[in-house]
Amino acid sequence: MIEKIVSKNFDIPNSHLLDVALKNGRYSSLEKLFSMMPDEVTQEVLDSGLRGKGGGGASCGVKWQYMPKNDKRPAYLMVNGDESEPGTFKDRQIFEYDPHLLIEGIICSSYAINAHDAYIYIRGEYKFFIDRLNKAIDEAYAAKIIGKKVMNKYNHSINITVHRGGGAYICGEKSALIESIEGKRGHPRLKPHQKECEWFFGNPATVNNVETIASVPHIIKNGYKAYTKYGTKSSPGTMLFGISGLVKNPGIYELAYGNKMIDFINKVGGGMKSGKKLKAVIPGGVSCPILTADEVNKAVLDYESMWDIGSTLGTGGLIVIDESMCMVKAAKNIIEFYHHESCGQCTPCREGSGWIDKILGNLLNKKANSNDIQTILDICNTMNGKTVCVFAPALVDIISSMIKKFRHEFDAYARK
Ligand SMILES: Cc1cc2nc3c(=O)[nH]c(=O)nc-3n(C[C@H](O)[C@H](O)[C@H](O)COP(=O)(O)O)c2cc1C
Repeated sequence: MIEKIVSKNFDIPNSHLLDVALKNGRYSSLEKLFSMMPDEVTQEVLDSGLRGKGGGGASCGVKWQYMPKNDKRPAYLMVNGDESEPGTFKDRQIFEYDPHLLIEGIICSSYAINAHDAYIYIRGEYKFFIDRLNKAIDEAYAAKIIGKKVMNKYNHSINITVHRGGGAYICGEKSALIESIEGKRGHPRLKPHQKECEWFFGNPATVNNVETIASVPHIIKNGYKAYTKYGTKSSPGTMLFGISGLVKNPGIYELAYGNKMIDFINKVGGGMKSGKKLKAVIPGGVSCPILTADEVNKAVLDYESMWDIGSTLGTGGLIVIDESMCMVKAAKNIIEFYHHESCGQCTPCREGSGWIDKILGNLLNKKANSNDIQTILDICNTMNGKTVCVFAPALVDIISSMIKKFRHEFDAYARK
């Protein structure tokens, strides 16, 4: 069930260094890339069905097509490496083990959308990964792989800048990320409509996740069919799935879409650490509705299957929970994160996250009753759909699903 496309070189010693990367196939997609027209590159990515790996699963090719054609303004590629969601730790593996794959992906993607400047946005605390990435970029400039002429011969210039974030989860939201690079506070923007690119200082921009961009060279070099042969019809290819929590072998593993979640937990994750029973899984980072053990047994790791059972695949980072874990304490832990990270721009999110945090704290201290549990659900209803970005709906999804599916645990804390 493990299929290595993006993680192919991860186990090679010193895979992050340019000479090792070159010996192991990095930058080998570029000859084919520059034999194609930019539109053909976009079409190849469209045909591959590559879906964004940053959480939403949008078609990468469709997104690139939103970039305006024959536009005199400069175009920008924004690579989203903020990766601040609990349970999500995949992009940093690319920074650590194969930064040259990301640079190669940036060359391919920037050529497709006619961008000559790319920004990699990375969480400021990730010093080790930032240093590693900057070193790889320096190596690529010194070897004239990037800069005025790609590989010192192709007629495409690309400059890459690493932008360190201040360590705010909200700055991973694509428009907040752009605001942040523009030097402003990382507040998400109102989105006029979905079928439009992003705008950076008034210029067209595309925001893509690190893993999305790192998936592009394989598709260009080998053709879209080399990607669609993995996965399912609607979710082709592979993803760096994460598994953390109470399993024997936590980590990042690249799997084709379409595998059963329970097989991933047992065969790859090694099963439950303590020998205790599986109780629940939060799939895709903490922004997805929780699944009970029964639901986990039915769950399949692709976008449509996860939507069908009322959750989402998100970033593919599973948090596995066993029967020893208290759901109320877990919910409190998660809401503390959301309360702390709410950017405060929208009142329902700013006030609602704090209010839920307070009630759950009271519940744990036996100072709340069952009406207060209902109040949390009412606050969730009030928040949903009334904010600029999907931070609040994500919080609502996880907290309300925990209460609805494990209500008896919350009731047990309620003061009579
Ligand atoms: C609160 C919040 C945090 C996010 N954090 C990230 C992140 O760290 N990395 C990421 O790629 N996408 C993140 N996203 C999703 C981005 O807004 C965007 O959809 C994504 O970067 C697009 O890339 P993709 O189409 O390649 O997935 C976040 C969204 C929200 C609402």
